[in-house]
Amino acid sequence: MEQLIPFLQASPTPWHAVAQMETILLGNEFTMLSEASPWDLSPGKGYVVTRQPGALVAFILPTGYPETLPPIHLTCAHTDSPGLKLKPMPCKRKGSHLVWDVEVYGSPLLSTWFDRDLGLAGQITLIHPELGVRHRMIHDREATAILPSLAIHLNREANDGTKIRRHDDLSPIILPDAVVSGQEPIATFQSWVKLQMERHFPAEDWHSWEPIAWDLSLIDCTPPRCLGGESGWLTGGRLDNLLACLTGVLAITSPSLRNQGNLPILACFNHEESGSLSPVGAQGNLVPSVLRRLFPQPDYLERILSRSTLVSVDAAHALHPNFSDKYDSNNAPELNAGLVFKHNANQRYAHSPEAEGMLKGLCRTHGIPWQDFAMRADMPCGSTIGPMLAANLGMRAVDLGVATWAMHSIRETAGLADIANLQSFLTHFFASEG
Ligand code: CO
Repeated sequence: MEQLIPFLQASPTPWHAVAQMETILLGNEFTMLSEASPWDLSPGKGYVVTRQPGALVAFILPTGYPETLPPIHLTCAHTDSPGLKLKPMPCKRKGSHLVWDVEVYGSPLLSTWFDRDLGLAGQITLIHPELGVRHRMIHDREATAILPSLAIHLNREANDGTKIRRHDDLSPIILPDAVVSGQEPIATFQSWVKLQMERHFPAEDWHSWEPIAWDLSLIDCTPPRCLGGESGWLTGGRLDNLLACLTGVLAITSPSLRNQGNLPILACFNHEESGSLSPVGAQGNLVPSVLRRLFPQPDYLERILSRSTLVSVDAAHALHPNFSDKYDSNNAPELNAGLVFKHNANQRYAHSPEAEGMLKGLCRTHGIPWQDFAMRADMPCGSTIGPMLAANLGMRAVDLGVATWAMHSIRETAGLADIANLQSFLTHFFASEG
């Protein structure tokens, strides 16, 4: 798992996560396919399709392709994480300070964004009077701002459930050396962009380029860390759900998957945290479109899907000893105690008894421990992309994942043994027959 921390650090946004996954896959003899071009496919070979921002599909064709009807073993995950994103007018003046103007993406634990060194990452579009439009990904690892808490002396109720006002309280204050001071806010942002372009793309001349669009997220500059030795914990940002993305990539690049009879597919989507309805979300047409191109013959795809299995991997809630009353003690997973199969009677998590039996059987065969999670019956349950993908494709499916503390915090915690188990499980799932 030595790739874990570098991957997390290099993947501050879905754009970057897809670029990182693409690099690993191409380095393992996968071939890039463009959605805009015809596909020349060969049995036994691995392929990657990306749709930016933030979606990727990788698959390995079985030896009998295209004549056989291979069962699909599909693993899905998401590349996005909740957080703060810059608005179209990204900078404003508050008193004597310039601040970033943000909106909230998904459902972050907002209190965890205070008192951190915050950088920026994402994508910027620039225009030149003669050369037209260019897009560039940036990842500024230097802090540009902080979001200081209000001192306890000015809010004596701060420890007793103070509400965070999303519009007023969440503007990170820009550091003095991050911008050219004394300018109007929009000029400040433009000069910040120019600084970033010169720093990250020094070979190009950015003199007459002007930023016209951006998709930029605030990021915690503190790197992830492993704590507590080899059987300890990983703490860091975006573990939900980059852990699943990376373990999925490492599993599908296992050399043992070439020259087999089934069809392993890894699908990573953006926009899970905001409902998945976009061309790069799990409700979009990316996977159906890839499958239609792989099996254009009449009724092949339907016959294959009826025998196929989906494993939807996303973070699971680990039992927090300080808040044990928030869990059903009978169905509360522990950190480093095995893969978590997630259950909800109302299909907030995908579930088919047939798939659960097959996957727990796989765990038993390969000595992979598992646990089961269900919410307390008097609390609502979260959801993920498993149910929508299973419904759209008509596949038997299960939701599972790695037990995690502080889900949607700027810094989450998961168990190292669980992450290793997930990779081993996904490799066996991709390789298994039937
Ligand atoms: Co998630």
